[in-house]
Amino acid sequence: MLAGKKIILGVSGSIAAYKSALIVRGLVRAGAEVKVLMTQAAADFITPLTLSTLSRNPVTSSVHTDESWNNHVELGLWADAYLIAPATATTLAKLAHGICDSALVAVYLSARCPVFFAPAMDVDMWRHPATRTNVERLQSFGNHLIDVEEGELASGLTGAGRLAEPEHILQHLADYFAEAANRTSLQDLAGRRVLITAGPTHEDLDPVRYLGNRSTGKMGIALAEAAAARGARVELILGPTSLTTTQAGVTVVPVRSAREMYAEAVDRWPESTDAILCAAVADYRPATVAPEKIKKGDGELTVAMVRNPDIAAELGRGKRPGQRVVGFALETENGLENARRKLIDKSLDFIVLNSPRTPGAGFGHDTNQITLVDRNKVTPFELKTKRAVADDILDRLADNPTP
Ligand code: CTP
Repeated sequence: MLAGKKIILGVSGSIAAYKSALIVRGLVRAGAEVKVLMTQAAADFITPLTLSTLSRNPVTSSVHTDESWNNHVELGLWADAYLIAPATATTLAKLAHGICDSALVAVYLSARCPVFFAPAMDVDMWRHPATRTNVERLQSFGNHLIDVEEGELASGLTGAGRLAEPEHILQHLADYFAEAANRTSLQDLAGRRVLITAGPTHEDLDPVRYLGNRSTGKMGIALAEAAAARGARVELILGPTSLTTTQAGVTVVPVRSAREMYAEAVDRWPESTDAILCAAVADYRPATVAPEKIKKGDGELTVAMVRNPDIAAELGRGKRPGQRVVGFALETENGLENARRKLIDKSLDFIVLNSPRTPGAGFGHDTNQITLVDRNKVTPFELKTKRAVADDILDRLADNPTP
């Protein structure tokens, strides 16, 4: 799975840095092309000469030398994966906060490929809330943790904090590429026409003001791209957001208000096989839209609001045998109870429960943590990238036998 893959290995200054030689050798033996970045501190533990000899490529440690500038952007774009191993507590902190004082961090900030980090430190450093917060922050960016292992540490203490064994690190990468390859060859939604609503809605108050919400549409766009990659024809009805997609197989239908989104969805539903209602639809809109900008007065301003139509409930009601409707429930309290009620009230096949209170989940993040709820079971998932979450949702959709 690693043959032909382009891997950057970032090495930071830990006693475990000597194991980076084994990682490079393992990657090269598996047929990967490897370029190594080292922090200055790493060079105290292992020489650049060792790693350049094993990787058969020059080793970079600074964004510039006396004669030239090292193009970290190019390197970030070159790679299929960026592995940072060992990642010390300092390096984790710098990555988590974008402190760009080495080529290792500069490439991290420029990389578009998946990033894996394998920490190594003493047990108390590993347990410290500062480290925990930095690890969680990196995971919330969608980076993959290769967890520490337990055992004897350089300090003489025993516990969690050892760098994962090189063969476990290599296996982790190989598994990732195997799963990614599986996903691309998977065409289990071929022949399906999937309608997806995503993003916020804007409800006009006057010619310059509107009521909206913080949804960015990231989750719905990830679902649309993942469904198209799995063979579906997708119509993405997208509320006002700066994000969009140009992926083949996805038709984007831009809308602004809940009523526009409703009209487009209802219109397309008879031709669709599945609907995934991911949009944060405003439940209310101002009863009237002022024709001119509302001027301020001395007292309070009260705006009368009326209910918007419920897209999910409407599609659920009009479901033909074989059509499936999936809803989302963003809940801050009583999540399961509310999700179950929505599942029944809106005749949904299953519902995706998430909470804006979970760190790394909800509006604007690249990651999400969901629980799938249907009439018979409740399935929680870990915090993952929105694309991986999309695939979990689509796995359930593809699995559900047509009633
Ligand atoms: N939904 C919809 N149309 C609406 C409101 C909600 O299609 N007018 C969909 C959402 O896209 C989501 C599901 O219904 O899939 C649940 O949305 P949510 O806002 O959580 O639920 P509501 O029914 O609006 O209930 P409440 O706001 O009281 O939690």
